[in-house]
Amino acid sequence: MTTILVTGSNGLLGQKIIYALRNREDVKCISTSRGENRMKAKDGYLYSSMDISDPSSVASVFEKYRPDVVINTAAMTNVDACENNREEAWLLNVQSVVYIIEAYRNIKHISLVCLRILF
Ligand SMILES: NC(=O)c1ccc[n+]([C@@H]2O[C@H](COP(=O)([O-])OP(=O)(O)OC[C@H]3O[C@@H](n4cnc5c(N)ncnc54)[C@H](OP(=O)(O)O)[C@@H]3O)[C@@H](O)[C@H]2O)c1
Repeated sequence: MTTILVTGSNGLLGQKIIYALRNREDVKCISTSRGENRMKAKDGYLYSSMDISDPSSVASVFEKYRPDVVINTAAMTNVDACENNREEAWLLNVQSVVYIIEAYRNIKHISLVCLRILF
């Protein structure tokens, strides 16, 4: 059984991934996003509120579920908002990835390969 944790599961991509993974017998699916779970389907996965810009929130969720694989879809995606709020865009789209990597390293004690797929 592989534990897969998805961030930003209230978003477009995150929801699609949860729908693809939930109810799979070989996957324990951990869905995380900011605030309440807004997905319509509530079964076949576990949900935990997690703000990726808060390192203590990330660390506690990682320690609780100890994921094998992390799929990070949480992001600030509005381009105009990113241009107008550059510090927030950096925090959500760059620094928060560091928090995720650090939390993962703390539970797995291994090096991490981080892939960023550009579309
Ligand atoms: N959709 C596509 O077709 C597509 C294609 C290629 C690449 N991508 C990439 O995939 C990623 C996600 O795209 P998307 O279309 O799914 O965007 P999206 O619908 O805007 O989803 C992003 C999610 O991230 C959540 N989020 C924002 N800040 C957060 C935080 N601090 N902690 C936890 N969650 C947070 C948002 O929560 P709220 O809903 O509460 O604001 C939102 O649900 C982006 O990097 C995007 O560039 C998407």
